[in-house]
Amino acid sequence: MPLCVFEMGHFSAVWDQRAAIEISKDWNGIDQVTLRMPRGASARVSLHGGQVISWRNDRGEELLFTSSKAIFKPPKAMRGGIPICFPQFGNCGSLEQHGFARNKIWTIDDDPPPLHPAEYIGKSAIDLLLKPSEEDLKCWPHCFEFRLRVALALNGDLTMISRIRNLDSKPFSFSFAFHTYFSVSDISEVRIEGLETLDYLDNLCQRERFTEQGDAITFESEVDRIYLSSPNVIAVLDHEKKQTFVIRKEGLPDVVVWNPWEKKSRSMIDFGDEEYKQMLCVDGAAIEKPITLKPGEEWTGRLELCAVPSSYRSED
Ligand code: BG6
Repeated sequence: MPLCVFEMGHFSAVWDQRAAIEISKDWNGIDQVTLRMPRGASARVSLHGGQVISWRNDRGEELLFTSSKAIFKPPKAMRGGIPICFPQFGNCGSLEQHGFARNKIWTIDDDPPPLHPAEYIGKSAIDLLLKPSEEDLKCWPHCFEFRLRVALALNGDLTMISRIRNLDSKPFSFSFAFHTYFSVSDISEVRIEGLETLDYLDNLCQRERFTEQGDAITFESEVDRIYLSSPNVIAVLDHEKKQTFVIRKEGLPDVVVWNPWEKKSRSMIDFGDEEYKQMLCVDGAAIEKPITLKPGEEWTGRLELCAVPSSYRSED
């Protein structure tokens, strides 16, 4: 893996990525990459799906939810972490639910096109690549390159950058989501700030459009919604843990909020009956208005996750 060397104005830096990256095999023989930072934070990414399967803070506490019943066996994505939904979110047409990207084996991208220098400074990172197989082209006949960068900062913040390029001779459209399973202490103690008064599509009512009321979002039954044209910063506050997840996003106008609650939990074979209490999916996404790329064009979606003590204020 190369050293990242770059110069910007008076600033220059050399960051030895090798020191902080470990590649191992999982029990299926698939590579997984662990990023570590000196203060103790870590993140693990599987080449199966390019899925982040663990994100830990400096104290080694896991911040993402993984079901105790998760099935770690391709081709299905395991229940938890951050699966990637591409080229569709949801279940329409002939494509599989949430698209095929989360079910495919990605490769390590040794020579990704550069990003802004700020994406490299003081970060441990891995770049992954997905190209369509013959089989993928049969169900979604568009040639593309999907580059995913997963980076961990010294303070433990996790950044994911998706870059999707059209290598075809015709335009194509897609929807996208970073399907983030946050670990929470107790769903009844959690609220989301930043989605108040927004319109949303309710997946529980055939995507009918409603408007959210003025209060922060709390949970007392199944929720499966796509909030539209959301602000670029939203917060998930966990009162019991006294912890807030701050979600910063770019290029991802929508936010999916999902908790299966009791009945749906019982219907999922890879999810414990009571586990809905310990998880909440809040996804940075682009769904309502699919992204259209002309030949040669590239789209970028960026998600940054921070876990901070609960003194965070949404107007910060
Ligand atoms: C959510 C969807 O994001 O993902 C739900 O809004 C869906 O409708 C859930 O049930 C889980 O999807 P899957 O395919 O991972 O079971």
